[in-house]
Amino acid sequence: MPGQKPIKVALLGCGTVGTEVVRLLTDQAADLTARVGAPVELAGIAVRKPNKHREVPAELLTTDVDALVESDVDVVVEVVGGIEPARTWLLKALTAGKSVVTANKALLAEYSGELFEAADATGADLYFEAAVAGAIPLLRPLRESLAGDRITRVMGIVNGTTNFILSGMDSTGAGYAETLEEATRLGYAEADPTADVDGFDAASKAAILASLAFHSRVTAADVYREGIASVSAADIAAAKGLGRTVKLLAICERVSGAEHAEESISVRVHPAMIPRTHPLAGVHGAFNAVFVEADAAGEMMFYGKGAGGAPTASAVLGDLVAVARNRVVSGRGPRESAYAGLPVRPMGQAPTRYHISLDVADRPGVLSQVAAVFAEHDVSIAAVRQEGRVDDASLVIVTHAATDAALRSTVDKIGGLPVVREVVSVMRVEGEET
Ligand code: HSE
Repeated sequence: MPGQKPIKVALLGCGTVGTEVVRLLTDQAADLTARVGAPVELAGIAVRKPNKHREVPAELLTTDVDALVESDVDVVVEVVGGIEPARTWLLKALTAGKSVVTANKALLAEYSGELFEAADATGADLYFEAAVAGAIPLLRPLRESLAGDRITRVMGIVNGTTNFILSGMDSTGAGYAETLEEATRLGYAEADPTADVDGFDAASKAAILASLAFHSRVTAADVYREGIASVSAADIAAAKGLGRTVKLLAICERVSGAEHAEESISVRVHPAMIPRTHPLAGVHGAFNAVFVEADAAGEMMFYGKGAGGAPTASAVLGDLVAVARNRVVSGRGPRESAYAGLPVRPMGQAPTRYHISLDVADRPGVLSQVAAVFAEHDVSIAAVRQEGRVDDASLVIVTHAATDAALRSTVDKIGGLPVVREVVSVMRVEGEET
């Protein structure tokens, strides 16, 4: 493309992902030029401490982010993370008509509406494939490939740290604390693992997935969130006993039906038991996978590396090629699609199923007392398994779908029955017929 004006790129941040972005841009310069139809030129890299980045060309480094964003760059790539100052920088870029590629899930989960409005005002592009599930092409399929279908459910493992821990607990039978310690030692968990183990990271990703799947604005604050810290070895053993395994799931689903005339969505992150035969059950270690159901397409699964420098940089580069191509033809990628405006249902009204494992006294009438509590709360029992021991019994109950509030009240009341010696395990069940 001799004579074709280069697409100039500003890179904000040069950590693990940024360094890989620079490497791919440099190593693949000729191919990228051919794919885009113009050279893609790195104009500057904004960092806090230039002397700490010896692996990238020193002449590109700057500490003046504002000047770099305000320069004649066409695209701003942000891999810094966090809400501020990333939000201010990206708003400035979009307002000046520069396209933005970002991997910033926390920012998108809270301020995507504001960012899309700024992009619309100038006709700029906003792409963020790397914000959810790293290298896995997932947002583009939701935004584009499935735009003609009606998505009913998105259910995924979108956090590698927690998946690594739960996989470890499942294979060794060890408890949560011990397995987290091992994950930290091996570098799979951060020194402060809160964002991962308490489900904040997955909740941001769930908000982004729900917004795209259901053409509605969903923010992280709308997402019900439970982490994995309370998952015990007993929960894992109970799951195994029934041919299930425990995963931290991000679930986004349409909820409709006669009782709830208005269509709504449920968006939630919590540990759940899934059958060991479910495609998500085979996702181990630090891998991510997202299972999507749509009316016409049916069931699909997207699987791959959800984190790491090179995998995340792959998604960033894909977006960079897309926005650069759009620039070359003076076109635009998809805008925000939030026309449906579906309300998010409070967790208490979300339909869920529970697995409840109890130690009970083994004498006449115990099962009927327990069953009566389910009936009182209008919760239908799907399966019961009882095993007698010397002077007590183990009772495992799996329910049909009911509102989460009804299921919780049922569990609370059962826990107080004198015949119940211990509530061994309570966990939601997903991935099966209701
Ligand atoms: N901390 C995330 C994980 C990766 O453990 O999967 C970044 O989103």
